[in-house]
Amino acid sequence: MVELPGDKSISHRYAILAALAEGRSEISNYASAADCQSTLECLRCLGAIVELSERSVRITGVGLDGLKEPRRTLDAENSGSTMRMLAGVLAGQAFSTTITGDESLRRRPMRRVIEPLRQMGAEIRGREGDRAPLKIHGGHLRAIDYTTPVPSAQVKSAILLAGLYADGVTTVRESVSTRDHTEAALREFGATIESTRGTIRIHPRPKLTARQLVVPGDLSGAVFLIAAALILPESSLMLHNVGLNPTRARVLDFLISIGAQINVASVQMRNGELVGDVAVRHTPLGGGSISGVQVAQMIDELPMLAALGPFTEKGIEIHDAQELRVKESDRIASLAEGLRQMGALVEESPDGMRVEGRAAGKLRGAKIDPHGDHRIAMALAVVALGAKDDTVIRDADCVGVSFPEFFATLDRLRGAEAHKS
Ligand code: S3P
Repeated sequence: MVELPGDKSISHRYAILAALAEGRSEISNYASAADCQSTLECLRCLGAIVELSERSVRITGVGLDGLKEPRRTLDAENSGSTMRMLAGVLAGQAFSTTITGDESLRRRPMRRVIEPLRQMGAEIRGREGDRAPLKIHGGHLRAIDYTTPVPSAQVKSAILLAGLYADGVTTVRESVSTRDHTEAALREFGATIESTRGTIRIHPRPKLTARQLVVPGDLSGAVFLIAAALILPESSLMLHNVGLNPTRARVLDFLISIGAQINVASVQMRNGELVGDVAVRHTPLGGGSISGVQVAQMIDELPMLAALGPFTEKGIEIHDAQELRVKESDRIASLAEGLRQMGALVEESPDGMRVEGRAAGKLRGAKIDPHGDHRIAMALAVVALGAKDDTVIRDADCVGVSFPEFFATLDRLRGAEAHKS
């Protein structure tokens, strides 16, 4: 049986809301991802009591108005979600906080949260206007009606969290429905939130109450294992308790559309999130193209999907994905570089890439630099399973940002396959 880590996106949200709730919440299967540990550390610095045990976290919240001015700069490390979502909470506090991150996070765009939070009345200054560290002085927020210029669940979440502190109902409109875990989690903790096709409204100053919650397995992490099963002949894989929120599960529809044999069973609703079992079997893949709204709905899975290109009949093509260039690394460039080193035929464009199919030739092992990006390291490790000779991935520990058990899990799966055959 494969143990998936708890979902990274959901873990961040449960932790933040537990810190703002009254009482002690218990979050089971909390993500082992380093990113989610960064969130916990920031919340500790803001006065929440965080107790860790194996795979569960207890957080004693301080209530909406109980956070304290931290004595030091908060460090979101590699985690964009931590920085952007906490910026929303900090915008509601009548004290000053500085939040920074590692070299990669300090390069990523922050204007997308600075703008709306300023419109709400927070004072926020970023380095060169758009970059972390962010210095935030909040309090007295106005409710706004905001249309997100780039589809982003992090930005939507920052505004909704700030909306908890506003003087009226805050509205966020998005052209593509991005992951809605914040909305589901806010409801779980007792906030009043209305959501109809692309428009979300949050009512201010709810009483948030501590909860017992279980985090589903991380589908975005599972996708690397699913891809491995699709690549390796005669393999099959069963994953239990996988998060199947429809705003995240489009990746399974896409894989099925290119020929993957994937079955979903035992689907149930838990804490406002769909959870179920996913069975995968090796099947020849046809290939296909991803563009438009699909991009935002599969944003974290695009590196793995593109990297499946050489294992498909017609290749994989991605358009409209310029957002990939401002993730933990420039994911279009890092992936193209790694795939080419392994012998794949890749054409890069400003907003995507085309990776040629099987006919372009066999892949070979190579020395790869994932540019410190966990999803690039995992995608290329899976590709390496289908290449001739060994691949060496530099600084492969970066996978710990989202899936610390990734290599051990992959090894175990390959071992199980070897025993079967
Ligand atoms: C996330 C949203 C996405 C995603 C990131 C996690 C979230 O980012 O890429 O890994 O938890 O809200 P954007 O909101 O920037 O698209």
